Amino acid sequence: MTDIEELLLSRIRDVADYPEPGVMFKDITPLLADPAAFTALTDALAEIVERTGATKIVGLEARGFILGAPVAVRAGVGFIPVRKAGKLPGATLRQSYDLEYGSAQIEVHAEDLSAQDRVLVIDDVLATGGTAEASLQLIRRAGAQVAGVAVLMELAFLDGRSRLAPALDGAPLEAL
Ligand code: PRP
Repeated sequence: MTDIEELLLSRIRDVADYPEPGVMFKDITPLLADPAAFTALTDALAEIVERTGATKIVGLEARGFILGAPVAVRAGVGFIPVRKAGKLPGATLRQSYDLEYGSAQIEVHAEDLSAQDRVLVIDDVLATGGTAEASLQLIRRAGAQVAGVAVLMELAFLDGRSRLAPALDGAPLEAL
């Protein structure tokens, strides 16, 4: 494990039985509260922006906003929020995706993405991959290119990576 991986891992707190019994929640608030760790994470994500040639960042509500916004500033690219349905005031594109029980919808402002954009999606966790997959579908429906997906953590036992593969279509999934 690299020094940065060790630092990041040491600042993620496992919370048992949250938000419901049987779930081990990965709490990133200790990492956010530690300037050395938050800066190291921001730098590592900004390096992925450079490596993938991304020209815009899409952050996924809500923790993807916290991680993605400083990366956008550091890398000098625009930040686009993808929100849960009903939160954006302008004309939106909406994408549904399946949850274990039922479905969810996310949205993006249609005018925020165009064919010139090369977009990196940033979030804290890749779990089932449903949220990230839906965000890639939004990006493609907007006509923009997918630079990749970058997350702090990948819960590999849920195999979101396989679910995401078709939507990535060869673009990288980077988990720090
Ligand atoms: C969590 C997490 C990711 C998503 C991952 O967000 O921050 O966005 O779930 O799960 P998936 O890979 O199975 O789609 P959540 O939906 O809890 O929203 P929040 O950050 O607004 O609480």
